[in-house]
Amino acid sequence: MLTQIEQRLCDAAISARHNAYAPYSKFKVGAAILDEFDNIHLGVNVENAAYPQGSCAEAGAISAMIASGGTKIKRIAVSGAGTQLCTPCGGCRQRIREFANLKTDILICTDSQFKKRFNLEMLLPASFGPDNLV
Ligand code: THU
Repeated sequence: MLTQIEQRLCDAAISARHNAYAPYSKFKVGAAILDEFDNIHLGVNVENAAYPQGSCAEAGAISAMIASGGTKIKRIAVSGAGTQLCTPCGGCRQRIREFANLKTDILICTDSQFKKRFNLEMLLPASFGPDNLV
């Protein structure tokens, strides 16, 4: 179901999740991006006492990728707890859209294991992206 590198990516998201700073929602999220150089970049949600200033795990992983010189999301894994799938929020789907293509796989994990594969088009149909800006 997962390639070796995809399993590594899921494991990276699952373990990064423990470092999330989520004292308000108590909902920790971890994300791991595989870039075009096969480097892995991690992110976690970082909440704030001024609630709207909190940021999502996916946003953190994208920042880490860009800061390291990566420019393309080949895969992204997201790990969250609970019984429902922790799919990226709407805003993060759009953030991923900037650096991925519609066939890019998004691997959703629980707090301990891979659960479900989506591609970006499934999560963000009829989307607006960089190619719309002519
Ligand atoms: N969260 C993420 O980090 N990524 C998502 O895609 C869903 C939501 C975080 C934001 C907030 O810190 C907590 O989960 C509860 O919404």
